[in-house]
Parts: sequence; C-alpha cells; structure tokens
Amino acid sequence: MVRTILTYPDPELKKKSQPVTVINDKVRELVRDMAETMYAAPGVGLAAPQIGVHQRVIVIDVAGKDEPPELIVAINPVIVYADGEAYEEEGCLSVPRYAANVRRHARVIVKGLNLEGEEITWKADELLAIAFQHEIDHLDGILFIDHISPLKREIFKKRYRRQMEDPQERP
Ligand code: NI
Repeated sequence: MVRTILTYPDPELKKKSQPVTVINDKVRELVRDMAETMYAAPGVGLAAPQIGVHQRVIVIDVAGKDEPPELIVAINPVIVYADGEAYEEEGCLSVPRYAANVRRHARVIVKGLNLEGEEITWKADELLAIAFQHEIDHLDGILFIDHISPLKREIFKKRYRRQMEDPQERP
C-alpha cells in the first residue's frame, strides 16, 4: 500500500527512530509499503519515519531508468566506515521541489539486517553512498537541509513557506 509521505516541517520527521527488535509480519508489511511508496513517488530512497513509523528501516534503489530495479532493504543500518568527500545535489521526498548540494562522504560501508534477519555489509560509493547517508540521517531526525549553510537554509525557508502558502505553487 502506498503511504502518505510526511513533508517538512512535520515534527515527526525530527524524531529519532528506534531499532527493530524482531522482524515479523508487521516489519515485512512496512518494508513492502515503503518500497511501493518509494517507487510510486518516484524516489531513490525512503526511510520509515518519512511515513510516520519511527523504526530504523530504510529502502533504497539507485538503479537507472533503463535498468531493472535493485531494491536494497536495510534494517538497523549503521555506517561502520566512511571516507572521501562528495558534494552532490540532493533532494528529498519530504522536502518537495527543493535541491541543494550537500557535503557527504564519498564512500561508506554500511552494516545492517535484511528482511531475513541476516547481517549484510554494503560497500557503497557514488549515488548509493550518498543515499545511505541521507536515509540513515532520516532515522536520526536529520534532513539534508540541516547540512546546508545557515544562509542557504534561511533562503530555503522563506521560499518554502511562500510555496506552501500559495495553493497554485503547491506540489
Ligand atoms: Ni530524504
């Protein structure tokens, strides 16, 4: 089922998510809904708090338009190693119609569980490395706009407020 994606400044997006303790039908349903919601949007990643569920679950698919889907499900993901620097443009389904360059690590190694409860290690670079960092941030209540300069953030807030007040401008 496609769920509603919460958008900034919804306070639910600022809450820290809790680790998943048992992978049961509820978690499997959550993951199914998250994947459906992400593909429907469409987006390259989604974290559970974006649909109002404060559990440490993310889904990512960075496959290109002409490539077959490659869904990554990471439960309780943790970045265990990071290096290099990236400065790429990011957007977020919870911050519609805004994009900004964000400083990230270029490469990360992430550990987490898959839906079978097996520990998986993902070695990521390029877009996937950024997606992991972006989605794991969501689990700690952090949005990509929290990483931009205070000046840029002020400009963003003004523009965003105006956009939200004007019904014709709303996404
Ligand atoms: Ni996001």
